[in-house]
Amino acid sequence: MRLWFKEANMRIYDIIAKKRDGLELTEEEIKFFITELTNGNIADYQASALLMAIYIRGMNIKEISCLTKEMAHSGDISDLSKINGIKVDKHSTGGVGDKTTLIISPLVAAFGVPVAKMAGRGLGHTGGTIDKLESIEGFNTAISQEEFVNNVNTINVSVVSQTGNLVPADKKLYALRDVTATVESIPLIAASVMSKKIAGGADAIVLDVKCGSGAFMKTLGTATELANTMVQIGKEVNKRTVALITNMNEPLGCNVGNALEVREAVETLKGHGPKDLEDICIELATQMLCLAGKGTEEELRVQVKEKIASGEALNKFREFVEAQGGKSDFVDNLELLPKAEYIVKITSDEEGYVKAIDTEEIGEALVIMGGGRNKKEDKIDYSVGIIVNKKVGDFVSVGDEIAEIHINNSEKIAEITQKIQKAYYYSKEIVQNSDIVYSIIKE
Ligand code: URA
Repeated sequence: MRLWFKEANMRIYDIIAKKRDGLELTEEEIKFFITELTNGNIADYQASALLMAIYIRGMNIKEISCLTKEMAHSGDISDLSKINGIKVDKHSTGGVGDKTTLIISPLVAAFGVPVAKMAGRGLGHTGGTIDKLESIEGFNTAISQEEFVNNVNTINVSVVSQTGNLVPADKKLYALRDVTATVESIPLIAASVMSKKIAGGADAIVLDVKCGSGAFMKTLGTATELANTMVQIGKEVNKRTVALITNMNEPLGCNVGNALEVREAVETLKGHGPKDLEDICIELATQMLCLAGKGTEEELRVQVKEKIASGEALNKFREFVEAQGGKSDFVDNLELLPKAEYIVKITSDEEGYVKAIDTEEIGEALVIMGGGRNKKEDKIDYSVGIIVNKKVGDFVSVGDEIAEIHINNSEKIAEITQKIQKAYYYSKEIVQNSDIVYSIIKE
């Protein structure tokens, strides 16, 4: 079937053929594709063919910016004009154990900078902020827009789940990319991320571009290209954008799983979180505050550490939880968080220095235990998860404990144990653990 749209005098067939042959698409063609896709006038097989052509042939920055803007305007644009101050949003390209939003939201808010965040749920091997927050008793992520605005104007922070018809084109495209092996494309990831940030209504954006075995971008070269592309799109749409390129060759921090990640976030806000998690949060918060005009990077890095040491960030976290209906007593007694029935220690079956930990394998183990979803409708078990006790660079002997699983289904223990052991890669040589933040890309 060749879809023919008389009014536009354009055919999706011709657009596919043009990109297949490596030619530049015009603004009209990109607009036509996104509009007709959103209106349900393009068959999945034709949209998928175009996605594959883009994956293979790429797009130049003009095409990517145009695709981003069309996607951003395919649905509602969130209106944050009733919130006072410069709104800086943060986005990660997806990782395992990434609980940074839970830490930096109150941390940045403690400086009086508004954090008005719409976040997502986890799908597949990566987790979502909303699921983590919902593991806190009573926490409501579906408060009204009025309450959201009011909370940000009074305590400077609110995090809600995405509602309304934000970027419907991305929902359709992402679902197709997921099943047609076209996720790992720089133009498509850049347009997907930036269209959501534009529609989310932020004034400025900090991006966390993950790089490594557990990320879409496996090498520093491709991660840098993606970061540069998104920073350029930000410039085009007049939203100052800074991108951090960060290490995803192992889970971030030690805890993976919803309630376990909340626990680690609180420990980090108390000043005793794992070093990689603390370092990345300090840098993300510093960049957000810098974009909000709060000072120089050097000054802010020191002040961010002081906000943690003084307990102000932790107090802001308590306020944030209570303002959204949650009980905050768990902050002083972490045993009150949901707990799994069995805690099983996993030991190493090899000797050597940990070279890498396959984060995809760890994320999948969490899904099998019930802590993540395969389908959007799946219910999740907040209490289950994995604590990674040995990280990249650590020396391990056979029989040493490398991880701990928190699980409710005892029949799955053997399968999960094997999966975790398989996720660890060892080297006979000493392995240096690199810094969590590889580089920072700005305009
Ligand atoms: N995150 C997104 O939001 N979109 C992508 O395409 C990849 C990661």
